[in-house]
Amino acid sequence: MNTSNLTIDNDRLIRRLEALAKIGALDGGGCCRLALTDEDRGGRDLVASWMAELGLDISVDGIGNVVGTRAGTVDGPPVMIGSHIDTVRTGGIYDGCLGVIAGLEVIETLNDAEIVSKRPLAVAFFTNEEGARFAPDMMGSAVHQGTLGLEDALAVTGIDGAAVSDELEKIGYRGNAATGTERAHCFVELHVEQGPVLDIEGTTIGVVEGVQGISWTEFVIGGVSNHAGTTPMRMRCDAGIVAARIAVEARAIANDMGADQVATVGVVELKPNLVNVVPNRALITVDLRNTNEALLKDAEARLFAYADKVAADEGVTLERRTLARFEPVEFSSDMVDLVERSAKRQGLSTRRMPSGAGHDAQMFAPNCPTAMIFVPSRDGISHNIKEFTEPEDIRAGANVLLRVVLEKANE
Ligand code: GLV
Ligand code: MN
Ligand code: MN
Repeated sequence: MNTSNLTIDNDRLIRRLEALAKIGALDGGGCCRLALTDEDRGGRDLVASWMAELGLDISVDGIGNVVGTRAGTVDGPPVMIGSHIDTVRTGGIYDGCLGVIAGLEVIETLNDAEIVSKRPLAVAFFTNEEGARFAPDMMGSAVHQGTLGLEDALAVTGIDGAAVSDELEKIGYRGNAATGTERAHCFVELHVEQGPVLDIEGTTIGVVEGVQGISWTEFVIGGVSNHAGTTPMRMRCDAGIVAARIAVEARAIANDMGADQVATVGVVELKPNLVNVVPNRALITVDLRNTNEALLKDAEARLFAYADKVAADEGVTLERRTLARFEPVEFSSDMVDLVERSAKRQGLSTRRMPSGAGHDAQMFAPNCPTAMIFVPSRDGISHNIKEFTEPEDIRAGANVLLRVVLEKANE
């Protein structure tokens, strides 16, 4: 069957994106569908209903990953298209959702043209990619690919004290399809860049070569509450100042190490959090990322040594917990070449680049040929309700996805 003129229906794709965005919609745009909340359930139900309408065979596994499969002319592991539909609290409507909905659009395009591929195709959305409620991020895809044990993931408690296992039951997505051993023929994820490079350059397609390493650490500092007016400075055990110094040091380390090292303090909680009381407890998180594992380890070592020292100087206790740790990942060069070739054949501008954000694709990379396709994010903004990608860029990205999937599915 000649598939060379086949293209996706971009209006249909965007209609679905906008319909999904209504669930958990935020004032001013964007959405909040934190993993395993009622809003997440609403999003899941809608996407699963689309999967059913498209005739996909739906399975749900023990961590709530949902996979819709379309049979091929031969049996075997599917060409899998996937991403996530959970969001951070201040999420945009494209992060993750684009990859899932573009996958459905690929399926519908083939359904309309009555094309059956040789290999099965699957569209998946993975539980808790964001990690904003439950750490680590990429939880569902990590369990799917066996990097994280199912029981360990189910036992995780979130920022609100709720357990993954209970919340999965509550939303009705604790399934029994196997995890850990499921393999795909290959994995492809279309995603918005979430950074400024493509937008600034005016390039349409980011050919993603890999994902940088991610290190998330939580520090809990224990001090002594006392009166802000009467306690001499030399007699304080101030948990808040130690948290503040760790935060400043994280930025200093990133500045000192240069462009490829980034550092973010995203959570700071003080207790009792009152104007005239020395804090007796502080919790902060530090997110460190680098494309180079050795440099990422250096950044961690510097930060941890500094935290130990300032805690000792102030006379407070310090507990350190790893919330997530993923080494940098390289995608298969054949898949990277295929994405680039497919984009160029469609006359699209391309640039090779690493991903700064974590993605479900990185969990597949060690186990099967894996690729990611990026499209521009206006002003490089993401994890923000202002996240936006031009419809024409979505069309371009989804058509590259279609070509890559067709080539892999028929090889
Ligand atoms: C997850 O999406 C991350 O990169 O933080
Ligand atoms: Mn994402
Ligand atoms: Mn995200």
